[in-house]
Amino acid sequence: MHPHQQNKPQDILCDCSGTTKTKIRQLIQQGSDTLDKISRATGACSGCGACDYELMQFLTAEQTRLSQPPQDAS
Ligand code: FES
Repeated sequence: MHPHQQNKPQDILCDCSGTTKTKIRQLIQQGSDTLDKISRATGACSGCGACDYELMQFLTAEQTRLSQPPQDAS
């Protein structure tokens, strides 16, 4: 595992604030359940707003994932 893989540029969801998906995922797990809370905690979506849709998609997907019991893929 290369140390640099942890914060590779693809992980960035909001370019303006440099907010990563990893960071957002942490916040969601800590109870930030709305786009507004995540935005205030990270600065995401407070610049150009281009990440608005992607952030919403990511939030919804993470919440869905977290609310479902782990399933066996087989
Ligand atoms: S990319 Fe997130 S506010 Fe500009």
